[in-house]
Amino acid sequence: MKETGNVTLDSGFVNTASCRSAITYIDGDAGILRYRGYPIEQLAEKSTFVETSFLLIYGHLPSAAELEDFTSRIRRHTLLHEDLKRFFEGFPRDAHPMPVLSSAVSALSTFYQDSLNPFDPEQVEISTVRLLAKLPTIAAYAYKKSVGQPFLYPDNSLSLVENYLRMTFGFPAEPYDLDPVMVKALDQLLILHADHEQNCSTSTVRLVGSSHANLFASVSAGINALFGPLHGGANQAVLEMLEQIRDNGGNVDEFVRKVKNKEDGVKLMGFGHRVYKNYDPRAAIIKKTADEILEKLGKRDELLDIAMKLEQVALEDDYFVSRKLYPNVDFYTGLIYKAMGFPTRMFTVLFALGRLPGWIAQWREMIEDPETKIGRPRQLYIGETARDYVAMTQR
Ligand code: SDX
Repeated sequence: MKETGNVTLDSGFVNTASCRSAITYIDGDAGILRYRGYPIEQLAEKSTFVETSFLLIYGHLPSAAELEDFTSRIRRHTLLHEDLKRFFEGFPRDAHPMPVLSSAVSALSTFYQDSLNPFDPEQVEISTVRLLAKLPTIAAYAYKKSVGQPFLYPDNSLSLVENYLRMTFGFPAEPYDLDPVMVKALDQLLILHADHEQNCSTSTVRLVGSSHANLFASVSAGINALFGPLHGGANQAVLEMLEQIRDNGGNVDEFVRKVKNKEDGVKLMGFGHRVYKNYDPRAAIIKKTADEILEKLGKRDELLDIAMKLEQVALEDDYFVSRKLYPNVDFYTGLIYKAMGFPTRMFTVLFALGRLPGWIAQWREMIEDPETKIGRPRQLYIGETARDYVAMTQR
């Protein structure tokens, strides 16, 4: 049964739906999130990131043969062109990995000119697989560049997540011992980030793609949109906020007072959402596993205690409750990424890795079904009424 999303009218603006889509359903008031009809809670518990990527892109859960074929096609494209690897030599050591990611993804359009035509199904398929396969390698290389360590070639005997962890934390000189707890936790976090309807970065991918720009160019634009601290950059901002509270003596009440007084524009990062006016279902899952994962990784973290205290204080405070501000997907993720050994600057890169199949699925849907494309956005003009030109001598 097809469901239609709710479109509410904001006061002053007609908040029309920006497009039609059959991929992800969100009910912000009820805190519901489904990919192709499947509840996020079930996918997070039972699926894998590669299987969920298949579901988002092709619209159904794969058979065993389909999943095996999809997995092996991705495995064959994990290598970067040796000339693309040289790009990383040009970036400054202290470059933030997100602009590195968007630059490298944009550059894929120059290396794979045989797969840029959005209306050739074979080219769309090969660019889909190339992007899913190469983004983890690009992300790992961005990290290795930042720490001055050698790049590792992908090992295609590993799964996508295992390969990414090994290329990130492994060294050529010795074997890398994969921690199954870390692999499973990261796989689940990527599932939870895989799509989210018409958020800022996905709308960007659709809008750029609506000009018939190729997939690499469209996703590169999405990566840049995700980098913003009010969007994907929030998971990095949450960790910096928790560290700031800790360094100021851990006084959560004092921090909340500053937020309520809007002192220096400070916000409770990881709280609030344009759509969820209830607990973000992803945050609920992540909070539940954060405790378990940190325990299993043997990484008890005082920042988790501060985060939980902050949530408790906020959810009992009318300032937040009256504004329907609840934890969102970014509130707890950074604590897990930190426990895994990622520096805060890599947190938004991990968000991009997760969101990639959603961006691809939404771009493909818009190309395949023009009925779902984002119309040319209009505006509510609030400028000057018509007036005549004034000569310089009259100004
Ligand atoms: C993501 O769209 C998506 O789906 C995005 C995402 C995805 O998966 O793609 O879910 C990922 O981007 C999650 C959001 C991550 N960002 C943050 O955590 C940054 C902190 N959050 C805020 O910046 C804010 O909550 C937004 C931008 C996320 C949502 O803003 P809204 O719902 O449009 O609310 P608003 O900006 O209109 O503010 C309404 C009121 C204001 O106060 P008053 O003017 O009424 O006094 O709520 C206040 C705001 O000042 N407010 C906050 C707050 N968020 C809103 N006050 C303190 N802390 C906050 N986080």
